[in-house]
Amino acid sequence: MSEKDLSNTSNNSALLRVIAILILLFIILFLFPVEFNNIPVQKKDENMFMEGKEIVLEGKGEVVGNLMAARLSGGNIEFFSFGEYFEANPLLEIIEPYVQLKYQIWSDGVVHSLLGYNDVSLEVKVTAYNNALVYSVRNLSPVRMNLRVKGSLSTFSWFNPEFRNKIAKMANVRFNFHDGVLEGSYGDSYFICVASNGFMMTDIKDSYTTYEIQYPLSPSGLFIFTVSGDSSRESAATHSKAALDNPHAIENMKRRWINDILSKIPRLDISKPEYALLWKYMWYVILTNRATVWNNPALKKPFTMPSKFAFRHQWLWDSSFHAIVLSLYDIKMAEEELLNLFENQKPDGRIPHEIFLSKEFCKLFWGVDDYSPWTTQPPVLAIAVKCIMDLGGDEKFLAEAFKVLDRYDEWFRKARDADKDQLMVYVDYLESGWDNAVRWDEAIRLFEKNPFKYKSKYEEIRMAPVEAVDLNCLIYIQRKVLAELAEKLGLYEKAKEYSRLANETANKIISHMWDPENGFFFDIFEENHEQIKVKSPAAFFTLYAGIASKEQAEILVKHLLNPKEFWTEFPLPTVSADHKEYDPKGYWRGRSWINILWFVYNGLKRYGFIKESKQLAEKALNIMSSGPTCNENYNSLTGEPLGAPDFSWSTLMITILMDIYGT
Ligand code: GLC
Repeated sequence: MSEKDLSNTSNNSALLRVIAILILLFIILFLFPVEFNNIPVQKKDENMFMEGKEIVLEGKGEVVGNLMAARLSGGNIEFFSFGEYFEANPLLEIIEPYVQLKYQIWSDGVVHSLLGYNDVSLEVKVTAYNNALVYSVRNLSPVRMNLRVKGSLSTFSWFNPEFRNKIAKMANVRFNFHDGVLEGSYGDSYFICVASNGFMMTDIKDSYTTYEIQYPLSPSGLFIFTVSGDSSRESAATHSKAALDNPHAIENMKRRWINDILSKIPRLDISKPEYALLWKYMWYVILTNRATVWNNPALKKPFTMPSKFAFRHQWLWDSSFHAIVLSLYDIKMAEEELLNLFENQKPDGRIPHEIFLSKEFCKLFWGVDDYSPWTTQPPVLAIAVKCIMDLGGDEKFLAEAFKVLDRYDEWFRKARDADKDQLMVYVDYLESGWDNAVRWDEAIRLFEKNPFKYKSKYEEIRMAPVEAVDLNCLIYIQRKVLAELAEKLGLYEKAKEYSRLANETANKIISHMWDPENGFFFDIFEENHEQIKVKSPAAFFTLYAGIASKEQAEILVKHLLNPKEFWTEFPLPTVSADHKEYDPKGYWRGRSWINILWFVYNGLKRYGFIKESKQLAEKALNIMSSGPTCNENYNSLTGEPLGAPDFSWSTLMITILMDIYGT
């Protein structure tokens, strides 16, 4: 045996010894698991969360009030917003003692977390009700500790520091620390109070403030932190005091309210239990996304925000979808959802794209000194009005709706149809509602090459005008609805005129947008009526509208059911999956959206494709109910929920569930 062999042998036996020790250690650990950080194991009491609760979800951290939204994560409030006025990231973070999240349960709008480390055990609860947010920490361990939290509050800016200073200046935002309470004011209209039962130190800057709070937390002791907002300093302060004095009252009121609103949802006999939870959850989403804003000259009536976490004002096509869902709950609420839109119609008949909570934000975003920009949005409003009409809507409301829609259609003819062919155009990608869709790429490129060419026809414009398939299907429907309303109101000439206009638009869609070679409907440029060969689910709007022929419908359904085009894991990507720009995670460049799915589901049914419509619905429902989630959009390849959580128009699935399982 050589020296080398000897050293190899001793190396080998050392290695074997190490392996043996490791195996032994592994067996010991497996048989007698050690609590490494020695957390007192807190068995969660299921009953505490389940009993009498409507919706119980593990892990969810979002809570919403009227103008408030917050997300609890790891026991910290990592996100907070108060309308479009204030935001925080984080609002509150525990810095002492060191703790880790053990579990988090959401039930009926209250989040309940258990945190621990070594001999420390804390119970955190957070909820928002109306205009107050309450966060509490209870010490469950037998030791006294010094609790330290830090946090921040800023002027709303979409977390863009440049916006922050500008908006703070424009809106005269002020922070002030007074009597242990941190106050923020936005103009003379919106006030916010941050208070706690601890000792608070603040560092105030012009557009934001940070703070630290200390509280000696004895065993069973309770630390309370509240944020209250209102239209006057006095009432914000009063609410803040009430929340501090009795945090449980806020939680109880919240739970009672959730129980009350959910007790009024339609009954449905859903055989799949996971759909039943999604059903209730979607109702929770649409009903709790409603908001009432005070002192706002533009948004006088309550309305539904698309998401209190990301979209905090009112949008035109969103609210139209919301009204469709709400009409199944309370017809008055559905009518009310549309009233701000009616009221904000411009003198020329345009109904604006969106109505901001604050003029300042609109100015920064659009450069317009108003509550709304110069664009409109997809005209879904008439569909919502028709829905309300069919369910027996109020006559005065319908008469008003006719007036508004009549002026709106006239505006389209004057301001969105330069070649007067009764095919309307989008002149802006955001106006289309499909913000960054692949279908607009070429139109944007053309515009950027020669903006003056297009500005001679349209004063405000950001892409070459596109006569879009979906837009014109919606215009066709709007005209049919106007004809029906006119007939009802005894305006027979108007009724005739709108029927004629509707037919003209439908005929033009067929003659200009259908491509027999590809068997598809395409958008066209207004300037030369050339088809833009990007396949998108906008083509299927011809089914919803009833414009496609039976033969065309059959060809369209083949595209729809093709996994290489639109039949992806979560179906209906916003561009066909065989397009080179398709991105399953791209916002409007390949994610799947429920509002588009809703049009297609109903279109399929209209043409008798019942089996296919059900398959489409079930593909989406299976993914949504597995959370449950009701997100803004979904990865079309994997089904991963994306965008804003608890998104209002995704509750359109309610109408589909009702259609499949309703009596
Ligand atoms: C996004 C969407 C738009 C929608 C708005 C509010 O901008 O692209 O279609 O109306 O959010 O939800």
